[in-house]
Amino acid sequence: MRSLPIGVFDSGLGGLTVVREFVRALPGESIVYLGDTARCPYGPRARSEVREFVLQIGAWLSARPVKLIVVACNTATAAGLALAQQAFDVPVIGVVEPGARAAVMATVNRRVGVIGTVGTVDSGAYSRAVRALDAGVTVFSAAAPRFVDFVEAGLRMDESPLEDWISQTADVFIRPSFYEMARDYLDPLKRAGIDTLVLGCTHFPLLSAAIQQVVGPNVRLISSAEETAREVVEALTARGHLAAGGSPDRRFFTTGDAIEFERLGSRVLGFETGRVEEVVLDDLTALLDNALRDQLTRFEGEELSETNPSKED
Ligand code: DGL
Repeated sequence: MRSLPIGVFDSGLGGLTVVREFVRALPGESIVYLGDTARCPYGPRARSEVREFVLQIGAWLSARPVKLIVVACNTATAAGLALAQQAFDVPVIGVVEPGARAAVMATVNRRVGVIGTVGTVDSGAYSRAVRALDAGVTVFSAAAPRFVDFVEAGLRMDESPLEDWISQTADVFIRPSFYEMARDYLDPLKRAGIDTLVLGCTHFPLLSAAIQQVVGPNVRLISSAEETAREVVEALTARGHLAAGGSPDRRFFTTGDAIEFERLGSRVLGFETGRVEEVVLDDLTALLDNALRDQLTRFEGEELSETNPSKED
C-alpha cells in the first residue's frame, strides 16, 4: 500500500497547482494525475454530469490502483466529493474543505470572499464548509468563469515561464481586458469589506499576482493547495501509508492532446512531466457501469429527499 501512488485529477491543467504543492510537501510520493482536458471546463456543466465524470475518473484511478484520491478541482469537489467517498474503497479528499479551513484561520474581520466557477459558487459548498467551521464568518461569493478561459488560453499563447507570461502579458497585451474583467468580478467583494479571498478554483493560483493587484495588498489570498497537501499528509500518516522512500514515480495523463499537456503542464509544475499519455474518452466513459450508475441515482435521490423532506402528517 505504501508504495502505491496518490491519484489526483482535475478538468485540465489547474489541478497541477495542487500537485506542485504535493511535490513540495511530499517529495517521496508517487503520483498519477489525470487532466480531463477534453471535457474542460467543468464549471458551466450540470452537477449530475460532473458527478458522472467524477465516478468515471475515480474508477479509472482505483483500477491503477492508488492509495488515496485527491479531487484537485473545486467544481468536481463541490458536485461529487461525498459521492466519490461512498463509491470508492480508498480515502477521497477534496479541495473545498481545506480552502475553507485556511480562510477561517486567516480572516481577522470574519468577512471572507470566494471566487470560483459557476458550478462551485452555485453549489454553496464554500459557505457551508466555512459555516461548519465558524458560523460567525460571513462568506461573499462571486463566480469568475472567464478566469478559467484566461488561464487555459493564456497558457497556450506564450512559451516563456508562466509567472513571466502573466506579468509580461499583463503589462503589454491583456492588461486592459483582464483588469476590467477582474474588477467586475472582484469590486463587489471589495465593497463588502472582505479581508481574505479564497481562490476557489485550482486554475486561479496561476493568476494570483494579477488578482492581488485588483483586490489590493490588504486582502489575503488563499489557495487550497497547501492546506490540501497538509490534509493528505495527515490522512496517509494516520493510516501508516506514507511512502517508505525510494524514488517517486510521477505519471501524467490527459483526455486531450498529450503533447500539448506535456508542454503546458511542465510550465505550470516548474519541472518536466515526462511523457504524457492519452486516455481515450470512450474508455473512460465505459467505466461508468451499472453499479456506479445505481450509486449515482441513489445518492441524488437521498439528496433530493434531504432538501425536500416530505411532510409528516
Ligand atoms: N479547476 C477547476 C476548479 O477548480 C475549474 C475549471 C473548470 O471549469 O473546469 O473548479
